[in-house]
Amino acid sequence: MRGDALRGELAIPGDKSVSHRAIMLAALADGVSRIDGFLEGADTRATAAIFGQLGVRIETPEPGVRIVHGVGIDGLHAPAGPLDCGNAGTAMRLLAGLLAGQRFDSVLVGDASLSGRPMRRVTEPLAAMGARIDADDGHAPLRIHGAQPLHAIEHAPAVASAQVKSALLLAGLYARGETVVREAQATRDYTERMLQAFGYPLACREGEARLQGGHRLRATDVAVPADFSSASFFLVAASLVPDSDLCLRRIGIHPRRTGLLRVLRAMGADIESIDAQGEGGELVADLRVRHAPLRGIEVAVTHVADMIDEFPVLCAAAACAQGTTTIRGAAELRVKESDRIATMVAGLRALGVTVEELPDGAVIHGGRLHGGSIESRGDHRIAMAFAVAAQAADGEVRIGDVANVATSFPGFDALARQAGFGLRNA
Ligand code: S3P
Repeated sequence: MRGDALRGELAIPGDKSVSHRAIMLAALADGVSRIDGFLEGADTRATAAIFGQLGVRIETPEPGVRIVHGVGIDGLHAPAGPLDCGNAGTAMRLLAGLLAGQRFDSVLVGDASLSGRPMRRVTEPLAAMGARIDADDGHAPLRIHGAQPLHAIEHAPAVASAQVKSALLLAGLYARGETVVREAQATRDYTERMLQAFGYPLACREGEARLQGGHRLRATDVAVPADFSSASFFLVAASLVPDSDLCLRRIGIHPRRTGLLRVLRAMGADIESIDAQGEGGELVADLRVRHAPLRGIEVAVTHVADMIDEFPVLCAAAACAQGTTTIRGAAELRVKESDRIATMVAGLRALGVTVEELPDGAVIHGGRLHGGSIESRGDHRIAMAFAVAAQAADGEVRIGDVANVATSFPGFDALARQAGFGLRNA
């Protein structure tokens, strides 16, 4: 349902990608690391719980903080049972690489959505490194055989994926020789920069990372920035609702994450980046967003990897913009937490929007949104994108299957209401 103008200052929860990696590297380091700004989402808590099963002591002195007692690069213990990644693709793919290098066997499982997502993109290059991973037709559960000697490879992933790159680099820690990952389209480099922060020697430049196995990690403290992907729902909502003026505090604005910022600005959005500076190794800024009329555009394919998680909310923006928005080159959206092209197209149509579905995107004709019922298919970002669209709709929007919002954005509904969203639990 429609809300008021969105105003005030908001604190957005910590970055999901950085939180996963902070737990993993702190667990493998020598010494004790403190993580501040840790995302208390179901995905990242699943990663922390898995390291508990692998023998790592992790304390939670207060929400958003973890003290990780690192066990050293060879210090993990065999788990007593399967390791449950829940809905988290990042957990499963990165752990596949990390666990392939251990002395013990392990099994990675996930929920129905994760069990339907493609895992060959990691299991095949890992097999080329000497790993033995049994998967059911390329899907979870992944049964990882320990005690396999790994050797380095050079790999150029067929799809732009930070998860694939990271899985290989984590396996590379345990491999003989130099692991090289070359990307045609550069993706987020959190794994590379965090390995360096933990004292691991690594050479990287845009689109290429290389590391030798056999070094150790040194404990360090990590300050997790606020998650740009979570902030993006508020950037779009405040752009759409008249009289809005919202400030989102200390958001991570890594250029490989902020393609949506560039696209929204090209659509006419009024978003100011204030006091941008490096904090804890990450570029962060306050983002001030004020209402502005949006116009449709053709989204350049070069932006796709830089905004891979932001297409659902971009579709919401496009549906309310003046004119037509064309999205192409984003076939990867079909294998996210849901088929995000099909799910968004179906949802927008249910709200009266004219949309053409493409194999790798959509053509969205902006205009008025009506009320209706949406199926989010258990996909957190779809549910939040339609909560945003609802703020510009002229009737009530009912969104089904919203429990998974807590995977990446616990407390979204309370924060959204605080900002002025019209939102209630049915
Ligand atoms: C992530 C990479 C992206 C993104 C996901 C988090 C990461 O996935 O969609 O939410 O933390 O490395 P891909 O690498 O599969 O594109």
